[in-house]
Amino acid sequence: MGKSYYITTPIYYVNASPHIGHAYTTIVADVLARYYQLSGFRTFFLTGTDEHGDKIAEAAQQAGVEPKTYADRISAQFRNLWPELSIKNDYFIRTTDENHMQVVRTILQKVYDTGDIYFGHYEGHYCVGCERFYMEKELVGGLCPDHQCEPEFRKESNYFFRMSKYQDWLIQHIQDHPDFIRPERYRNEALAFLREPLEDLCISRPKTRLTWGITLPFDDNYVTYVWFDALINYITGIGYPEGENFRTFWPVAEHLIAKDILKPHGIYWPTMLKAAGIEPYRHLNVHGYWNVDQSKMSKSLGNVVKPLDLKDKYGLDAFRYFLLRDMVFGLDSSFSEESFVQRTNADLANDLGNLISRVMAMALKYFDGTVPQPGATSVADQVFAATARQTREEVDVCFQEMAPHKALMAIWGFISTANKFVVESEPWTLAKDPAKKDRLATVIYNLLEALRCIAVFIAPFIPDTAQKLLAHLGINDPESQDFSTLQDWGRLPPGNPLKKIEALFPRIEVKNMETQEKAAPIFKPEISYEDFEKVDLRVAKVLEAELVPKSSKLLKMKIDIGEERVIVAGMGKDYKPEEIVGKMIVVVANLKPTKLMGVESRGMLLATDTADGLTLLSFDRLPEAGAKVR
Ligand code: MSP
Repeated sequence: MGKSYYITTPIYYVNASPHIGHAYTTIVADVLARYYQLSGFRTFFLTGTDEHGDKIAEAAQQAGVEPKTYADRISAQFRNLWPELSIKNDYFIRTTDENHMQVVRTILQKVYDTGDIYFGHYEGHYCVGCERFYMEKELVGGLCPDHQCEPEFRKESNYFFRMSKYQDWLIQHIQDHPDFIRPERYRNEALAFLREPLEDLCISRPKTRLTWGITLPFDDNYVTYVWFDALINYITGIGYPEGENFRTFWPVAEHLIAKDILKPHGIYWPTMLKAAGIEPYRHLNVHGYWNVDQSKMSKSLGNVVKPLDLKDKYGLDAFRYFLLRDMVFGLDSSFSEESFVQRTNADLANDLGNLISRVMAMALKYFDGTVPQPGATSVADQVFAATARQTREEVDVCFQEMAPHKALMAIWGFISTANKFVVESEPWTLAKDPAKKDRLATVIYNLLEALRCIAVFIAPFIPDTAQKLLAHLGINDPESQDFSTLQDWGRLPPGNPLKKIEALFPRIEVKNMETQEKAAPIFKPEISYEDFEKVDLRVAKVLEAELVPKSSKLLKMKIDIGEERVIVAGMGKDYKPEEIVGKMIVVVANLKPTKLMGVESRGMLLATDTADGLTLLSFDRLPEAGAKVR
């Protein structure tokens, strides 16, 4: 049996549409799967959606539809997005799939039968956003550290998984396998959790409160806690318990997640596996968070970056490249369109784009559109060829260490060597002297071969560009170009017909950024009038306003909307409190209240996001507070 590789992404909640955070994880998983495939491994890449639990039930209720209808809709958004981003997952799992639900019940029964699930009572602070209970000391100023909202206090009788029993085993396992959780900062974080006594995990929810879940096999009055259900997808997705895929891929399983869900993956999941008699996974790879202009991305702040907007505006490979290159795997990164444009121009338009267009133009001009036959090689040629092999070794190490950004740095090091080779060998001077035709042929051949190697190197990261480049080199069977071909310099057949190349990455002019934006507005999908009618828009007068303590952006406002209410909005950078008092604004009056940094907001104001910041909607004739807007 050959080498195998199995990579998973988190299965995403279906309570919100995909954004660049989801895209990043899934693109990294795609890069890994493609790289291992090109390196001769049999691979399996799993992604999907997590569809049960409070959060989804609430979102469905807000949308006024059944949870399953809601889940179908958002799950399809994820499923349909991935091919648009050239993501080639082998399977898309949904936790509402019947076979998944069956396996969850089997595992629950198995763990119950061994005595590791028991019935007990619980009270604690529950954050619906995180779908989990928090200990008092984990809260920051009484708020959930992730969602900055006050958790609900819940008191319930429930089923518990005896997680505490596996604490010592888990500590030992992490110590014996230093790269079980990586990078190291997250291994340390997991070990830090484990320094405290591990509590048993509440794994059920009473049906009196939540019905949207998998019924426990041993008690009809309860559904399964969403994390216990969701984590099991990693084995159901490859056919546990019987499938051949399970036998092949489970022993080499690697998970890819962001730091937000380290605890369920680093603590709950290995102990659940242990209790069910299944070997733990091999690696948990944890990356940081994408923030936008230094702030956390969130719907309430209105700064969510949508993958398709960027792809449509700048092209898919520029988008994939930016995400992969800009984030140091493991650390947070800040997204801004400015840095996106800068990086695209520097690395793709200049370094890579110029190399390709220069080399192709010279080859077409001097050798009539075919790959020349190289002559005798010089020391410089040998050094150049050796750099390609060395780059392959570096790239391999970067993948072993789970550092895709570093792999790109190594590849761009080779691109820069190739650009230097052009400058140092001066083909344009050689071309003037017919006696040097042989040397010119060798130089151009080496440069074309370097382009072939680059196409192979970049194939996992920016596959569409790699394919185009190979096609321009007259290679019509891209499957023949795997990583093993990087070992022997000279695989590009002389005589191959070259295609005239269009600029693969035109420079983005900064002024173009705006014109393009105007030329291609992107609208949300159509909705019916009945859907629109559900939104209760009202005129409101701002009575009082102040910044929420410790926030530079959130304004708390008392409004008159026919009744007095408090709303919170992320307008603090654009409006001073005193500026907003007295204004007549438009508010969505029937939005479910939400807490922002501990303050409950009962409505959302309408504003437009311009290049100069947010601007409130205003009126040319003043209506009454509370009047309907339609
Ligand atoms: N449903 C759970 C996961 C269950 S896995 C058995 C969940 N879903 S989620 O929709 O909230 O997705 C969280 C994951 O999305 C993160 O771990 C990460 O992979 C990705 N990201 C979401 N926001 C992100 C950023 N802002 N930055 C980077 N990745 C982020 O948790």
